[in-house]
Amino acid sequence: MSNPLLVVNELTKTHVDGAEPITILDNVSLTLNAGESLAIVGSSGSGKSTLLHLLGSLDAPTSGQVLIDGQDLHQLGNRAQAQFRNQHMGFIYQFHHLLGEFSALENAAMPLLIAGRPVAEARAKAQRLLERVGLGHRLEHKPSALSGGERQRVAIARALVNEPRLVLADEPTGNLDAHSANEVFALLAELQRELGTSLVVVTHDLALAARLDRQCRLDSGRLVDSVEPVALQEQG
Ligand SMILES: Nc1ncnc2c1ncn2[C@@H]1O[C@H](COP(=O)(O)OP(=O)(O)OP(=O)(O)O)[C@@H](O)[C@H]1O
Ligand SMILES: [Mg+2]
Repeated sequence: MSNPLLVVNELTKTHVDGAEPITILDNVSLTLNAGESLAIVGSSGSGKSTLLHLLGSLDAPTSGQVLIDGQDLHQLGNRAQAQFRNQHMGFIYQFHHLLGEFSALENAAMPLLIAGRPVAEARAKAQRLLERVGLGHRLEHKPSALSGGERQRVAIARALVNEPRLVLADEPTGNLDAHSANEVFALLAELQRELGTSLVVVTHDLALAARLDRQCRLDSGRLVDSVEPVALQEQG
């Protein structure tokens, strides 16, 4: 039975640059079930980050809807959106965006601390996830003392620590060498399955994209549903 967690309805984003409106996203619709993972591929400038920002309510659409569990994100006020993001969503970026002043453990615990959870509980959950991503021996390290792959694993732990319904990742392994990218991506996909989180990943790496449940392509702001699975595998 399908159980849609995310429903995107005719999402359009235009920017007015001078006199001419530019269409960045053109009538994008998609559905993602609970626990399902989706890769979005597409050339530079095709609108991938714009789409993720709209899905995460980090930017507002020109028209269309983003429903998560039936809740229209863009109908919420700023405060309610921020709270919704904190409680139900996780974010992973190409560059880790960890806080340099804080340890790996504190960074991973941050979403729970922001949500007002007790410090001991936040630290215990963060520690468990960091151990799970192989960083049990790096809890007190600051981001500057971690390798690129380790930082992204902290970012994964941070994105999952509040047990979100949906994780959005924009080129989460784009800054890593092929070997680390593989490891980090595998870890993300594994945890997502274990926790039953829905996952949307933007990647230019077709071999990594092929590992998720579904793939689609953005082409000049239009969503093309099928990326040939055979073509995907050949790339790997
Ligand atoms: N504020 C803005 N005003 C005008 N155009 C914008 C604005 N923000 C983004 N764009 C344009 O929207 C298009 C899509 O940008 P987006 O960042 O979503 O692409 P992308 O697919 O993520 O590319 P990349 O793979 O390089 O990260 C680009 O052509 C970009 O120049
Ligand atoms: Mg981008």
